[in-house]
Amino acid sequence: MTVMPKLEDLSDPDFDAFAMERMSTGRCPDPYPRIHELMRQGSVIEGIYRNEFTDVTDVQTAGRPTMMVLGYDAVMHVLTHPEIFTNREAFLPSLGVSFGESVSVMDAPDHTRYRKIFQKAFLPQVVTKWGETVVDPVVNSLMEAFIHTGKADLIEQFTHDYPFQVIYAQVELEPEQGPVFHKLAIAQMLSSIGAPQGMEATEKLGVFFAELLRQRRANPGPDLISHLATIEVDGEMLPDIILISFLRQLMNAGGDTTFRGTSALLTGLLTHTDQLEAVQADRSLVSQAIDEALRWEGPVTCTHRYAKVETEIDGVRIPQGTAIDLVLASANRDPRKFEDPDRFNIFRERKHRHVAFASGPHLCIGQHLAKVEMTRALNALLDNLPGLRLDPDRPAPQMIGHLLRSPEHLWVRFDA
Ligand code: HEM
Repeated sequence: MTVMPKLEDLSDPDFDAFAMERMSTGRCPDPYPRIHELMRQGSVIEGIYRNEFTDVTDVQTAGRPTMMVLGYDAVMHVLTHPEIFTNREAFLPSLGVSFGESVSVMDAPDHTRYRKIFQKAFLPQVVTKWGETVVDPVVNSLMEAFIHTGKADLIEQFTHDYPFQVIYAQVELEPEQGPVFHKLAIAQMLSSIGAPQGMEATEKLGVFFAELLRQRRANPGPDLISHLATIEVDGEMLPDIILISFLRQLMNAGGDTTFRGTSALLTGLLTHTDQLEAVQADRSLVSQAIDEALRWEGPVTCTHRYAKVETEIDGVRIPQGTAIDLVLASANRDPRKFEDPDRFNIFRERKHRHVAFASGPHLCIGQHLAKVEMTRALNALLDNLPGLRLDPDRPAPQMIGHLLRSPEHLWVRFDA
């Protein structure tokens, strides 16, 4: 029997990566009034999104002209013109350090070549199967812990863990390694604010994945890692450096975002009981409820590009080398596209698609998986927790953060 490689903890095992992450993503309960004010100044204006809310600086903008792109059409323009707006330069100092050679840090032609290969592993027909085999067992085992109690904190006891556990199941990680894995996945992102634990986490995940790939190549199974480890491209295996970077990114891009997206979905429904009742009664509404939650409170509020050449967006001159903050949260609440945009309304007319998963060549690879996970999670909660409602004796959920958003608690009651 193969012994799984062991993931090494940070040298300071008490370092609280989650607290540091909260500090970096901010304590702002509602960035939207400020976002609307900024959008009224123009759809493309000078400045740095992060600095509207915090003094914490990141490494991406150092010494460059900076612009914020806020309007929906302007955001779409940037996302769909990769020949003008580069990912490579924008993300090398941040994700390039945290993950390495991940698809987010690539431009064409490398991006086109590698993305095509990874994307095959996340096609709708592939991930739909994982719904039953991987997602349901995780969701059921987490619910088991509170289903008979009549109350729960759905963040602490459910949404914070389930997408990570889905990934552990695919990696076939030993359960006791889960907490270290989760901590390192969060810690690796801290390089963007200069914390040394960021690089330590990146290196430790790298050692673990290298050994895991070696083992799975020697002994392939039906799991995702074996699949990725043995894919051949033009008769060659994917290089380890590309695979390891992708796996580092997967923990974060797939775990943290889905946790936040599911938390926003539950918050939206539980604070709008008429809409919760409608979804409870007619599950064909689940898909539009997910879309609306991602538009209303998309987990990733902002992404980045650099202008390769001097250009214009919406009539505004953009000098070559400008660091651009693409404010997805603002595009998703652009009143020119979404009527009464601050309102959570699963019945809104869907004339424009939200950009919570971005658009263009870097459109989220995991969007189908995220939707499968959110669908299975919501249906399981509605099926198994009758009379699901907010706990009247506890504070109502409050979304927090200007970069990554979710509530810290979601206290509910139900009829046990
Ligand atoms: C609700 C959940 C999710 C949200 C809101 C989300 C959001 C995003 C966004 C906004 C981007 C594009 C960033 C940019 O262009 O700068 C992206 C890219 C990406 N996402 Fe997701 N994501 C989610 C779930 C997932 C999952 C489950 C996976 C796991 C497979 C995943 C893997 C990726 C990868 C690998 C990329 C990079 C794609 C590329 O650069 O070509 N995401 N995601």
